[in-house]
Amino acid sequence: MKKEYTRIGVFDSGIGGLTVLRDLLDLMPGIDMAYLGDSARLPYGTKSPKTIIRYSLQCARFLIAKDIDMLVVACNTASAHAIPALREEFDIPVMGVIEAGSRAAVDAGGSRIGVIGTLSTIQSRAYDNAIKALKPGLRIYSKACPLFVPLVEEGWCDNEITEQVARRYLDCLVREDIDTLLLGCTHYPLLKGAIARVMGEGVRIVDSALSTARVVSGMIGDGYDRERPQSVDFYLSDLSQNFIDIGEVILGKKMKYVYDIDLCV
Ligand code: DGL
Repeated sequence: MKKEYTRIGVFDSGIGGLTVLRDLLDLMPGIDMAYLGDSARLPYGTKSPKTIIRYSLQCARFLIAKDIDMLVVACNTASAHAIPALREEFDIPVMGVIEAGSRAAVDAGGSRIGVIGTLSTIQSRAYDNAIKALKPGLRIYSKACPLFVPLVEEGWCDNEITEQVARRYLDCLVREDIDTLLLGCTHYPLLKGAIARVMGEGVRIVDSALSTARVVSGMIGDGYDRERPQSVDFYLSDLSQNFIDIGEVILGKKMKYVYDIDLCV
């Protein structure tokens, strides 16, 4: 018999992980969720592995104290560096986004895969290694796109400047004639319009948010009451109106229960 899960904890360095939460909520009505955005310390993507692991352990400890029974690391950068440390320290299931995202890229069926992410994710080569482990022989081209995160945080998801920045970063992948582009960062699905225009038709764009949510939903199974009222709590290490305004657009619903927290006590 499948173990029963009642409350999933999700953490990210900030707002971008709401793209993963949105897909989790869509697939699993009836399961409670607790979302932690470490907005005070964003970005993780420019930090060293040591710091990212330390922050990730703090986020996980906080959520575990809120009685979660499964942890989803929505942040690609934290997934790239901290999963082994998290699995070693905690005895609940810990899911990252790298494996599911890599699976989605491989399943898209192409042979020349572009991977974009934060500097730290790209430097870790976590996606390259996971994709190669799933299907050796694929050509992988990686590119860090550090300015994409602040553009999304500013709410500039689809304007002229965003498209210019995207062109500057992605031209090299266009020249490599990639057929699949993996969005290896929580924020990038929000830039999909601009990214797709730059890449042109014929390039399949996949992201790790939906594929991760599908894997988690498979683990949860369907033996729960989907009509049960679902509680969704938001814990932010820096609570700003901007976070809530953009967060509600990403989620397509109100963020009702939002708590300002201190992770470094
Ligand atoms: N959440 C991060 C990721 O998916 C992006 C934002 C950051 O750099 O903290 O890699």
